[in-house]
Amino acid sequence: MRKPIIAGNWKMHKTVGEAIDFVTSLQKELEGWERTEVVVAPSFTALASVAERLRGGRIALAAQDVCWEEEGAYTGEVSPLMLRDVGCQYVIIGHSERRAYFGESDETVNKKVKAALSHDLNPIICVGESLEEREHGDTFRVVEGQVKEDLRGVDAEAARNMVIAYEPVWAIGTGKTASPGQAQEVQSFIRGLLSDMFSPALAEVIRIQYGGSVKPDNIDELMAQPDIDGALVGGASLEVGSFARIVRVERG
Ligand code: 13P
Repeated sequence: MRKPIIAGNWKMHKTVGEAIDFVTSLQKELEGWERTEVVVAPSFTALASVAERLRGGRIALAAQDVCWEEEGAYTGEVSPLMLRDVGCQYVIIGHSERRAYFGESDETVNKKVKAALSHDLNPIICVGESLEEREHGDTFRVVEGQVKEDLRGVDAEAARNMVIAYEPVWAIGTGKTASPGQAQEVQSFIRGLLSDMFSPALAEVIRIQYGGSVKPDNIDELMAQPDIDGALVGGASLEVGSFARIVRVERG
């Protein structure tokens, strides 16, 4: 049985003080809650302080990006070694905003995924089609290309620890959620790809999240789908009440 995983991607929001206040309240809200794995992804500047506050608790810490190199002359980059050092267990890789605005490609995603896994950092790998691609009937082709390229050469044992996030670009920040049926259709397809690339047994344990306008009022129907194992939440993860409500989802 896959344990649901709900992650809050804060994107470029919250100062260090705001981040600390947020996780302090979230810890109180979720006291005793064990049924869902909970992850928060603050910006780089808040990671160390948030890690300190989360120490010994159940909420896990993620970064929003990582470099594929361990160290060296890479101005502005942060390595997997540094993220582990500061207390991250997860890292979001290949978010569509990074692909659209910062030149992230499947090739760089693949390098980052391998670097993360080799440092015991669990990648949350984002894939998803644009509106234009969906309207042209290209959704499955695009998602298949991303999954195959992003995971090329990844070791099967290490793959167990990764999370895939299906985030249709047209649903991100638009208030337009994929219907549970649309998300399930693609996520079951992704599980099929994982089964072919690794093994059916491994595909059964890898968690696949849905992301794109997830809110307290649509999480239940999304999570009722057999291949939706959690959510990667943007806007609704910035407020403790709505994020805690999403975390408390009962698997259907
Ligand atoms: P929204 O929940 O704001 O649509 O963002 C989704 C997302 O991009 C999470 O990574």
